[in-house]
Amino acid sequence: MTGVSAPSDEAPVQTGHHIGGRRLEGSTGQTFTSRNPAHWSEVVAELPLGTGSDVDAAVAAAREAGRDWRRTPWPARGEIILRAGLIMEQRKEELARLMTREMGKVLTEARGDVQEGIDMAKYIAGASRRPFGETMPSELRHKWAMTMRQPLGVVGIITPWNFPLAIPSWKLFPALLAGNSVVFKPAEDTPLCALRLVEILEAAGLPAGVVNLVFGLGSEAGEAVVRHPGINAISFTGSVPTGRHISAVCGGMLKRCSLELGGKNAIVVMDDADVALAVDGALWGAFGTSGQRCTASSRLVVQRGVLGDFTDALLARAAALRLGDGLDPDVEVGPVINERQLQRIHAYTGIGVDEGAQLLLGGEIAAQGALADGFFYPPTILGSVRAGSRVEQEEIFGPTTAIVPVATLDEALAVANGTTYGLSLSIYTNDLGTGFRAVEELESGIVYVNAPTIGAEIQLPFGGIKSTGNGHREAGTVALDQFSEWKSVYIDYSGRLQRAQIDT
Ligand code: UN1
Repeated sequence: MTGVSAPSDEAPVQTGHHIGGRRLEGSTGQTFTSRNPAHWSEVVAELPLGTGSDVDAAVAAAREAGRDWRRTPWPARGEIILRAGLIMEQRKEELARLMTREMGKVLTEARGDVQEGIDMAKYIAGASRRPFGETMPSELRHKWAMTMRQPLGVVGIITPWNFPLAIPSWKLFPALLAGNSVVFKPAEDTPLCALRLVEILEAAGLPAGVVNLVFGLGSEAGEAVVRHPGINAISFTGSVPTGRHISAVCGGMLKRCSLELGGKNAIVVMDDADVALAVDGALWGAFGTSGQRCTASSRLVVQRGVLGDFTDALLARAAALRLGDGLDPDVEVGPVINERQLQRIHAYTGIGVDEGAQLLLGGEIAAQGALADGFFYPPTILGSVRAGSRVEQEEIFGPTTAIVPVATLDEALAVANGTTYGLSLSIYTNDLGTGFRAVEELESGIVYVNAPTIGAEIQLPFGGIKSTGNGHREAGTVALDQFSEWKSVYIDYSGRLQRAQIDT
């Protein structure tokens, strides 16, 4: 089923980089456009293609503004972030609509994305009066020992298009609270959402130059951010190959980098599960955001006793999902982000079939009627997928999910754990013991029981193991860790030299 609606008649926004609180034309005059993936003829914005010299200007502004920002008291920094969250709350609908126009996710989900940013603002602002250090006894008399958090300096933040406000919020708000200034390079597919977020921060009282926005491509603007000696740390969410590259460059420079990369997440459905509940979860996990989440449920590992019932119910429900423009309230699955991704997603259907999987649903690019002006791929389900095959191992980042039949819990856990990724895994079971075994044995940063692999909340750490990242977590009580250094402080008021380990 498809939903068709007219392109928006809003005029395209023409803008420059946002550096030092001001709009700055790009150094080369070259531009790129952000377009609506549901109506590719609709230009949402036109922006400069950032270069190394634009990044130089952004770093200079961040260094300058950072001097005072790092001395601004934590609670005062927190107030600004809280106000930004409240403005996002007031402007939620407008931001959500812009997001749907820029990257296609259905409006309900775009509202959720804005909400995740609001949640992060409120959560981290609350931390502004408790960025606790520790005090502990010294081994010597009249000597005081304690720790405190310090900012890193200028942080480079590079974000993807699939969560255009949530992911920048997870990074920007804690980075700012910790007293850093920022050079922000958002994905080229969602630049306007990023600009609105920075404008909101400044409207909330963030001094000019504390966040500087450079638009452009990863290969040029992003690369310049990563390599810039004036940027002390990188926080990146995106693909594994790009993450590896960033990690190698940062490794050579001894620059801190935290990477949030791909996933090949699985829902395990056991024979004792509530099958209807598992079908609800699989639909939401696999086809929400058209499967374009690093947490998407791209594998369904199903025990043979419920395989038939589960598959039949899933196929019936997935076939009824309405595909179309995410601004249409009846649409349940929006477009995918661009032509390149559309072709890549479609290629994986062919790869799966060639590997012997059964194409149970979807599998053809949807281009009937008005859909032809956008990039639409229907919910696609591959059955009888073999563990170890490419569609079972590789991240597709689209509305495609693979059903892998298994016989036992042991086999289910081995299949779920059997990829190079480790972001989010889930199990549906009504057996307490099975649930707890899965919690202990599933190899991922996030585990769900009786819920799909998507749905992380900002008060818990977000991130994964294996190739999903490099050991960092975002949000939660550890949100400040990737954006601050610990300083250990000793104060000796004895008035004489006291030698540690010797004069004790
Ligand atoms: C992502 O896909 O990069 O748990 C982030 C979720 C969302 C965040 C996804 N809260 O699916």
